[in-house]
Amino acid sequence: MTLTNDALQAYVRPGAIHRDVYKDASVFDLEMERIFKGTWVYIGHDSELPEPGDYRTMAVGREPVIFARDRNGELNVMVNRCRHRAASVCQRASGNANSFRCHYHGWTYRNDGTLTGVPKRDRYDTDIRPGLGLVKLPRVDAYRGLVFASFNPDVLPLHDHLGAAARAYVDQWLDVVGNRRLAALDQAHRMVYGSNWKLQVENGLDGYHATFTHASFFDLMQGRTGANVRFASSFKAAETKSFGNGHTVVDPQTADRSPLLRRVEASPNAEMLLAALRNRVDPVEYEELRDAVAGTGINVGIYPNLQLIGTQLRRIEPVSVNSTIVVVRPLILRDGPEEFNELRLRYHELFYGPAGFGQPDDVEMFLRVGMGLNDDVDEWLLLDRGLTREVDDEGVRTGHVSDETPQRAQYRQWLHLMTTVPASARDGEGQVNA
Ligand code: FES
Ligand code: FE
Repeated sequence: MTLTNDALQAYVRPGAIHRDVYKDASVFDLEMERIFKGTWVYIGHDSELPEPGDYRTMAVGREPVIFARDRNGELNVMVNRCRHRAASVCQRASGNANSFRCHYHGWTYRNDGTLTGVPKRDRYDTDIRPGLGLVKLPRVDAYRGLVFASFNPDVLPLHDHLGAAARAYVDQWLDVVGNRRLAALDQAHRMVYGSNWKLQVENGLDGYHATFTHASFFDLMQGRTGANVRFASSFKAAETKSFGNGHTVVDPQTADRSPLLRRVEASPNAEMLLAALRNRVDPVEYEELRDAVAGTGINVGIYPNLQLIGTQLRRIEPVSVNSTIVVVRPLILRDGPEEFNELRLRYHELFYGPAGFGQPDDVEMFLRVGMGLNDDVDEWLLLDRGLTREVDDEGVRTGHVSDETPQRAQYRQWLHLMTTVPASARDGEGQVNA
């Protein structure tokens, strides 16, 4: 089925979304072309590839890619597809390699994508190597260590795509550790769930659900600490905001971080780790570090596939219309202290880990929504909470923490991208690495 712009526009009302947006495979196909090949897609944190030769494999939309640091230290994002007869050239999730050899007929590519080896090359009339490197995504750029890439050569500069307001929130989120250097954990927690990718995009910036979806977590914490540890959702002044290009935030708007600190103190081994930290650093640094364990408590969403939540960077990878991978990678301090890093991980696992008390409940909700999409009674999902009350100040829309201001912004951007044919589709995919 070909989706016309009129058909796409009919899916998005000011405060509601048609269910086919989550369940129609032709919508998913078009999302992969127009969103994941049309705009900037988050790839990873530059600390994930500390050494020349380091690489990771993943997907950008439907395209398998290799994210690699070459021998000059440059970061490249290349399609993981041999230019001979299309076999993938790298099978591992991560590693270190000077080159990638295709195991079908042995073509070999340097880790910057250059084709260096073609067995029995004399059977070609000319040297074919210069024109047949791995296809590189034409745009790769980073902001504060967050690496993005795009198949669209005409995409806005990354700095402008993020915009001043979203950049300021990214800064605030990263700067919670002061000028200490953050590093992404090599190991990540990968969640696979059987429902649409946009449910995670919505949920990471949903200030309405926590009290209900995560009731068991708050009850448990109340039992352990004797106090309420609810954060953004329990503060009167807490806000949601949306910026240009689908970027959004949940901002608790408070200086009172005591609920987060109570959660830290209720994490496994917290007492021992905090005592060891106190012994290791001076009292001022101890206070700073203890306060930084939990992060800012602000959730930032960079559309379409990056979320900065708690202490983690979260990359959302659509697989099919009803299958999604979410890669959750906590950030620690590159240079320690180790007690801080260990406590950060224990704190992170408490809610977000595979056996955590929070994230599995969100995934359960994604599956329940998936079941509800099969119902023929009502074709619409509502996103109109706070619609007439949000304040628009030169493109920055602000609503109450429980308003669906972020989700409405996501679908405005969704519709914009879905009704725009990107240059990557018009001119062929990416550029050939000469
Ligand atoms: Fe890679 Fe033939 S498909 S060498
Ligand atoms: Fe949640």
